[in-house]
Amino acid sequence: MTNASTAPAAPPVGAPGPGAVDVVPPPSVPLSFLAAAGAGLAGLGLAVWFAADHVVTAPRFPGVVSAVHVGVLAFLTMAVLGALHQFAPVVGRRPLRSVAAARVTFVALLACVWLLPNGFAHGPEWLVPTAGLTGLVAVSLAAWNLSRPLSADDGGIPVLGLRLSVAFLLATVIFGVVYAFDRQTGWFPLLSNRVLAHAHLGLLGWLGLTYVSVAEKLWPMFLLAHRPSARTGAIAVGLIAAGVSFLTPGLLLAIPVLAWMGSLLVAAGLVAHLVSLASCVKHRRRRLELLHAYLFTSAAFLVTAMAIGAAAGILDVSPAMRGRLVTAEVAALVAWLGLAVLGHAHKIVPFISYTALRTRGYTKTADGRPLLFGDLFAHAPARVTLAVGGFGFTAILTGILATSAQIVAIGGVALTVTATIAVVNLATGPGHAVRGAEPNVRRAE
Ligand code: HEM
Repeated sequence: MTNASTAPAAPPVGAPGPGAVDVVPPPSVPLSFLAAAGAGLAGLGLAVWFAADHVVTAPRFPGVVSAVHVGVLAFLTMAVLGALHQFAPVVGRRPLRSVAAARVTFVALLACVWLLPNGFAHGPEWLVPTAGLTGLVAVSLAAWNLSRPLSADDGGIPVLGLRLSVAFLLATVIFGVVYAFDRQTGWFPLLSNRVLAHAHLGLLGWLGLTYVSVAEKLWPMFLLAHRPSARTGAIAVGLIAAGVSFLTPGLLLAIPVLAWMGSLLVAAGLVAHLVSLASCVKHRRRRLELLHAYLFTSAAFLVTAMAIGAAAGILDVSPAMRGRLVTAEVAALVAWLGLAVLGHAHKIVPFISYTALRTRGYTKTADGRPLLFGDLFAHAPARVTLAVGGFGFTAILTGILATSAQIVAIGGVALTVTATIAVVNLATGPGHAVRGAEPNVRRAE
């Protein structure tokens, strides 16, 4: 078994490897999205802290809806869409349609993800639909831009899954914009089931399906896993996509049989996703490393979300209790995706920085050793990031279930600390790694 930190620089993850250099956008494209996502996680912590009283009692309170959107848009959508601008060209082996459009997407998304939560929390009310329309411009542009790499017909399951997940992102935002106008015009009552249709489309159809699809490429690559078959991954992608297609209209139109069918299909898909993780771990040729501690902790939150979601659907409880269970389920899904994003960021950012350093001629550290991916961030703070992040999400979940605003607030503060450590570590790591090193005069390829 190879130790990942000392292994030769394999070309993984959304980072350009041989043959991929000419298809990926400049490092500043994915890195700007990922840096903004770090600010999003810090903002999520603060928003949860400030809204803690209402998180446990009134999930539709403006401050809570605001905090939710800082989490799903400013943190998760920003990170995942940014990573896709790097990953899709690598996996589809075709470049984006336009690097300039990617930069416009970033600016429009950045405006949306901060204006929308502010509109929810503080008004004025017109800010909500305005920010929503800005978000629609951003994701429409991203879908057009990604459509070239995602039109590859030899990209396998990841490409198929990503085509669907980007379509679900567009649908989520269109729902959101309609609801945003409806808050002013009152076209229809914005009942909980309707809001939940939009919420599950975004969390499972967009974010969940993207992660499950991308994982089918990343996990075998990171673990050098040679599985006898990748069927469970294909099943996961197919079942989640099919399940979301039933669950959304089932919730929207309040048709329980459709919602239940959708939930069961999504649950089966998520189980297949976990089986796929277990299979990659079993057939690995590399040692487990920090990333896998992130993945296992993240997977524990997924199992928790599934259990709480099932309890919310099955148990005969008061409407207040059901509301609390649904809030806890949403929090657990955000924790599942959030820790996965943080773990993968400790791989993706160093890989992108590595390529950027090499193009500037840096191939060795100051003591003459070949530069490795693992040199580009400090490992102890990365472990602390996982510990504090895991603690923060656990506290938020526990606080919601125990109706304790104090515990939720502590969890929020922990998330802001987590984001700060991760951003400082990943941003300063490359500079530390080559401090005092001489760049090659003849620049590296
Ligand atoms: C520009 C994009 C978006 C807009 C305009 C938007 C708009 C809205 C609106 C108007 C509501 C109902 C608020 C109310 O109760 O009055 C809502 C709720 C919600 N949205 Fe979005 N949304 C967007 C993107 C997303 C995405 C991408 C996700 C998930 C990945 C998401 C997840 C949720 C959740 C979980 C709720 C329920 C919040 C709660 O009840 O506390 N939204 N959204």
